[in-house]
Amino acid sequence: MEELRLNNTLVEDQQGEIYAPAEQSKKIFKQHFYIESYGCQMNFADSEVVASILQGAGFGPTINQEEADLILINTCSIREKAEQTVRKRLTTFKSLKRRKKSLLIGVLGCMAERLKLKFLEEEKLVDLVVGPDAYRSLPSLIEEAAGGQKAVNVLLSREETYADIAPVRLDSNGISAFVSIMRGCNNMCSFCVVPFTRGRERSRDPFSILQECRELYENGYREITLLGQNVDSYYFATSQETSTSFTFAGLLEQVAKIAPDLLVRFSTSHPKDITDEVLFTMASYENICKYIHLPVQSGSSRILQLMNRTYTREWYMAKVDRIRALLPDCGISADIIAGFCTEEEIDHQDTLSIMENCKYDFSYMFFYSERPGTLAARRYTDDVPEGIKKRRLEEIVSLQNRLSLESNKRDIGKTFKVLIEGDSKKDSAAWKARNSQNKVVVFPKENHAYKKGDFANVTIMDCTQGTLKGKIIVH
Ligand code: 5AD
Ligand code: SF4
Repeated sequence: MEELRLNNTLVEDQQGEIYAPAEQSKKIFKQHFYIESYGCQMNFADSEVVASILQGAGFGPTINQEEADLILINTCSIREKAEQTVRKRLTTFKSLKRRKKSLLIGVLGCMAERLKLKFLEEEKLVDLVVGPDAYRSLPSLIEEAAGGQKAVNVLLSREETYADIAPVRLDSNGISAFVSIMRGCNNMCSFCVVPFTRGRERSRDPFSILQECRELYENGYREITLLGQNVDSYYFATSQETSTSFTFAGLLEQVAKIAPDLLVRFSTSHPKDITDEVLFTMASYENICKYIHLPVQSGSSRILQLMNRTYTREWYMAKVDRIRALLPDCGISADIIAGFCTEEEIDHQDTLSIMENCKYDFSYMFFYSERPGTLAARRYTDDVPEGIKKRRLEEIVSLQNRLSLESNKRDIGKTFKVLIEGDSKKDSAAWKARNSQNKVVVFPKENHAYKKGDFANVTIMDCTQGTLKGKIIVH
């Protein structure tokens, strides 16, 4: 999933409409929580589950830290830098607590799970430490913490999917929503801390997923992203007796059938698990977006083996060819790691050449950061000097910049049906939208009566590396 982001989990959307107005919240709730999320989209989705649990316990959301009785930070451990950012943020919150003694500070998510009690030893002003599978216990933990005890629950579960909890949409534009369909990961990529912080993989009951999606559609949402660490291995046995079950392809199809004007996306796909069945399903429904995030991590078969990715360079490229054969207009993006243990120049060249070969529309690119407890940390030496990691990463980034620009240039002259997400950040006289391939499309509003959440046909006239620039076509 994506690089670390900061989100002041706000209740205001880009156009200033308020979904859970702070003023209204003040009247309903006596106590307030402020939450910030870091890391992948799963964390953002989890914060919405947390918000729902907290509302049930009498805490309303606030966007104002000073007003909060409880400050929560939903953390990420994927790279060391992500953890450093969280620690810096905690310093600010701790200074608020020095001024307001009753303020409670809680650490949620992957860092809570990874560091457990150590967190409380290291960060004395933190009151709660709650792992990703323990959010239901938040109300009782808050009570404990308010009574002056340190409250910790970092138990991982084999069953918890929060299936019955209706997330409270935070920081929402009212158009796009994330729906979590599974939790955890069984893959054990050697560099990755996620299997340790989020536990074993488990799939959520499909009926609760479909109900959540239907409700979102009825409430005006027009784009749903089905989320999981590895969505293609989604599997849910609905009846043992009749041995009926849902695979990811089956689930995707049912979500797509909710309404033709509900766009469906998903993330993330492990190349080893995405099946032809999923690709055929994507091809059969116009409203399933033609975009696949397919992390490659490295282009060298030797490094891929050390990473425990279970595919070779050739196998991955054949998968991309298969996608292109079945879905010729599909956007493809990747995650790429530079400077994994033992990586030589020749391996790095393999990464650059696989990028050229696959022509990624965009990528999320990182240099390797050793994570304590992972297989790589235990078995291999983090032996690529930092300077070399950074240089290789720069080469990867500049190649991707060229590939993105080339990809966007190929779209000039094409017409896309796009979903309007809101005003363009740079120009309120223009709309920001997204096409099926997940590219941002910006175009002047002119005098057309479009609004956020509408679909428009836009012909691409120009582009930058990150944006397509178009013009509305009225048929
Ligand atoms: N160092 C650098 N990048 C990592 N990722 C996961 N673990 C690490 C690590 N230890 C990247 C992978 C993954 C994405 C979510 O983060 O590319 O797909
Ligand atoms: Fe980490 Fe690999 Fe699981 Fe992704 S598939 S979360 S990289 S272990």
